[in-house]
Amino acid sequence: MATTAPAIPSRVAAAERAAATAGFKLSCTPEVGRLLSLAAAAKPAGTIAESGTGCGVSTAWLHSGLGRGARLVTAERDEALARTAAALFADDERVHVLAGDWRLLEQHAPFDVFFCDGGGKRDAPQEVVDLLAPGGILLLDDFTPSPEWPPRFAGTVDELRLFYLTHPDLQATEILTTPTTSAVLAVRR
Ligand SMILES: C[S@@+](CC[C@H](N)C(=O)[O-])C[C@H]1O[C@@H](n2cnc3c(N)ncnc32)[C@H](O)[C@@H]1O
Repeated sequence: MATTAPAIPSRVAAAERAAATAGFKLSCTPEVGRLLSLAAAAKPAGTIAESGTGCGVSTAWLHSGLGRGARLVTAERDEALARTAAALFADDERVHVLAGDWRLLEQHAPFDVFFCDGGGKRDAPQEVVDLLAPGGILLLDDFTPSPEWPPRFAGTVDELRLFYLTHPDLQATEILTTPTTSAVLAVRR
């Protein structure tokens, strides 16, 4: 039996180095990354989308599960970050890094996987749901686990989390990614 944790994919490690060099501290954790990899692998010929590329750490996790027939489209409004991330995937024509607002993604919809991490999640949640293909997987991280229902954050009901968890077009659940962080995982009916 293996006694060490699964290796970090080399492209993820390269993106983490790029993020460290750029001083970018908002990259996803390996726990979220492994979920992203799994979601991408579940749709081997799918359209995989991401809003908020950052330095490409989460993109690299998605890429680690990307099927031969799939494509990965990610949007980042910070041009320098978008350039940094694009350089990491220059050798793979399945990957498209768009420099600009997340709405640039719309022309590539519907999505079989959507990691909504920068733009859309808070400001246009219904549009996020509308961009999913039937059976499409939506992933949203950076929530704080709540023992109550409805979920609460900072003393009030977390209406955003509630929107996704109770949306009639979604089959959704919240999972712990670490003891102190959670993600919403949903599939469009
Ligand atoms: C949490 S960070 C992304 C981290 C990255 N997904 C990762 O896990 O490695 C959010 C990113 O979204 C970008 N962003 C915020 N609003 C955006 C928008 N409306 N359109 C495109 N990118 C946006 C920010 O510039 C930032 O780089």
